Amino acid sequence: MTTVPIAIIGTGIAGLSAAQALTKAGLVVHLFDKSRGPGGRAASKRSEVGHLDLGAQYFTARDRRFVAQLQQWQAQGVVAEWSPTLYSANGNALSLSPDEQVRWVGTPRMGAIGRELAKDLQAVYSCRIVEVFRGKQYWHLLDANNQSHGPFSHVVCAVPAPQATALLSAAPKLAAVAAGVKMDPTWAVALAFEQPLATDLQGCFVQGSPLDWLASNRSKPGHDATLDTWVLHASGEWSRQHIDLAREAVVDHLYGAFAEVANCPMPPPVFSLAHRWLYARPAGNHEWGALADADLGLYVCGDWCLSGRVEGAWLSGQEAARKLLEHLD
Ligand code: FAD
Ligand code: NAI
Repeated sequence: MTTVPIAIIGTGIAGLSAAQALTKAGLVVHLFDKSRGPGGRAASKRSEVGHLDLGAQYFTARDRRFVAQLQQWQAQGVVAEWSPTLYSANGNALSLSPDEQVRWVGTPRMGAIGRELAKDLQAVYSCRIVEVFRGKQYWHLLDANNQSHGPFSHVVCAVPAPQATALLSAAPKLAAVAAGVKMDPTWAVALAFEQPLATDLQGCFVQGSPLDWLASNRSKPGHDATLDTWVLHASGEWSRQHIDLAREAVVDHLYGAFAEVANCPMPPPVFSLAHRWLYARPAGNHEWGALADADLGLYVCGDWCLSGRVEGAWLSGQEAARKLLEHLD
């Protein structure tokens, strides 16, 4: 079996899932990420009011392989069930919307999942890869500081489709598939209130508003926020239309939309922040699992290869690893 390590670009759930599966098979992987830590869109952001989950809010598990992983996380205390009082809103018509769906969150925050997956892996953070190129025999990566990394026997590219396109010039067919995947943006806003808002609303699916989701952090098991913090997500359409709006204006708009939806007294927040996810969700679902040019040794995974969900990302990473291992046999 090869002793030259495998490079994985991206330490989101997909890249970490691939890394776990390859390591389990006895291979050595080196991960790279432009962010300061693991988790990608399922990471948590540290703030003066505690950690905030600005990306993935919760996840569901439908595939039996992911259910098995979830049970392991549950045993490790990394995830817990979240059973919010769920509402749905259409414009400002708010109604209770209970259902039977089991939903999970990372504890004490979503970022715990990425941290658990990354804990025994070798990863370089704050390292943006700008090029994947082939030497005589092996692959090398070039980062934004002009440093090269390698050699690597294979490369797994686990980043959102538009970012993957730029890294796949050595495999034009894979690059063309990635280039055909559109990903929609999401503006996320966090608000903190000194006193708990007078509402029993804990999570709400929204239509007919700039928002499409809002949630109370304190309703989540183990959450560490001291104040009453909320996360609001704008719809893809509103986010696209306001993609370059100043952060303060985004906060004002979405706070206003929250006040209309929540139907309770809404004092001014004592803290707010806005975060723009440029590649938040794939515009549609695909059934690729993962993409591969096995002869070249290049593999591609990410939520956009399946469904734009935590489960889709994890399964895609497993699939990339499976395809790579199959070719080694
Ligand atoms: P990512 O998490 O995007 O990981 C890719 C990683 O690659 C990132 O860490 C990035 O920094 C890194 N990277 C990119 N380019 C480079 C480069 N050139 N060099 C080095 N590193 C690079 N899913 C759910 O199941 N439930 C939800 O409630 C939910 N809500 C969401 C809300 C929002 C606002 C967003 C944005 C997403 C949400 N999702 C939700 C989707 C879920 O977060 C994603 O499907 C999943 O986390 C994607 O994982 P990934 O590994 O495919 O990609
Ligand atoms: P899920 O089964 O809870 O939700 C799927 C969708 O079904 C929801 O978006 C909502 O439209 C609808 N829905 C579910 N329960 C409902 C209820 N009780 N009342 C009214 N509508 C309800 O979770 P799943 O399938 O795991 O999806 C993950 C979630 O992540 C979705 O809500 C999705 O919108 C969100 N997401 C958000 C992204 C963003 O950028 N804002 C990116 C990726 C996912």
